[in-house]
Amino acid sequence: FRTLGDIDPAGRKVVVRADLNVPVRDGKVGDPTRIQRAAETIRALLDKGAAVLVLSHFDRPKGKVVPGMSLRPIAAELEKVVGRPVRFVDTDWRDGRAAAAAAAAKPGDVLLFENTRFHPGEEDNDDAFAAQLAALGELFVNDAFSAAHRAHASTEGIARHLPAVAGLTMAAELAALEKALVAPERPVIAIVGGAKVSTKIDLLENLSTRVDQLVIGGGMANTFLAARGHRIGKSLCEADKLETARNIEGAARRAGCEIVLPVDVVAAKAFEAHAPHRVCGLDEVADDEMILDIGPRTVADLERRLDRARTVVWNGPFGAFELEPFDAGTNAVARIVARLTAAGRLLSVAGGGDTVAALNAAAVADDFSFVSTAGGAFLEWLEGKPLPGVEALRPRQAR
Ligand code: 3PG
Repeated sequence: FRTLGDIDPAGRKVVVRADLNVPVRDGKVGDPTRIQRAAETIRALLDKGAAVLVLSHFDRPKGKVVPGMSLRPIAAELEKVVGRPVRFVDTDWRDGRAAAAAAAAKPGDVLLFENTRFHPGEEDNDDAFAAQLAALGELFVNDAFSAAHRAHASTEGIARHLPAVAGLTMAAELAALEKALVAPERPVIAIVGGAKVSTKIDLLENLSTRVDQLVIGGGMANTFLAARGHRIGKSLCEADKLETARNIEGAARRAGCEIVLPVDVVAAKAFEAHAPHRVCGLDEVADDEMILDIGPRTVADLERRLDRARTVVWNGPFGAFELEPFDAGTNAVARIVARLTAAGRLLSVAGGGDTVAALNAAAVADDFSFVSTAGGAFLEWLEGKPLPGVEALRPRQAR
């Protein structure tokens, strides 16, 4: 991929696609990580003498102007983080305001345009709308890895109209994912948690052909345990996915990948914080109990495995991590990965909304080698699917 180092943005107008789709509650930005990462690219371009024209979507307004989904509140936040004035361009993308503002932009200016999804051409990847966006500037920098699974006008279409390169965040995401899965140091362990097998079938299948051990956690583990014939009481389980789980186990075995399930669990009668609970062996879960976390023998087993591994990719928490104390297993494993990473023994890459929340809660996210800001895009990448926003950055002859 070509990156920022391959272009000379001095005196040019550079269109930067960022992902400023951050959580906002009561007008306040929740997690500003995406804004912080976009700011690095914006600052780098400003330092080289560019005018920076920032595009992003926000939420899902479905091609209409929805005032509650305006990017305006984000402009103030972006200004704080970048440390330079940011001018918000209020446009419905049907008026001429975006073009006029871009035409007037000078080196050192930062413009943030209104939500690209206010125009239906964005999600339709309409070529006329892509050309309209491209006409704002002279170069295109895509820094929105987390939106790269969408083939939209501002992520994919625009790259057909302008010289296109990856921004710093995009480049860092791609480098980390490449190191973790394309050319990893082995052994590689993937940890995949979450509630449902049904949403992660493609991901599990793809990972089982790439990693040495696939650790399955969360509600999904119950389905795999049930498929192996273990008693799981009234645990969350997809009864119609037992065959799928067995097929994934079979495919993994043929690919030489070991599927790793809990060897002990924490069980409770109620799905609530601080519910009375006990540690028990796999077949000791009573009919009126449910599995809410992994047990200490499982944590010790994972520690031994991680100790021998060189690379770990993590998506999805283990137990019902949103309920104390059933976050204990996820926290313990997160601390082990963080310690081994800090000691230089492990390359660790994590991604997905819940995963990042869990690592932040355990206060270990900074110790991981790389934490992706992507949700859906990270999952699709783990599924082995090409991401349109990334593909559009490849030199044309390589596509
Ligand atoms: C995300 O938050 O995962 C990205 O910004 C993509 O958003 P979308 O799922 O609405 O396309």
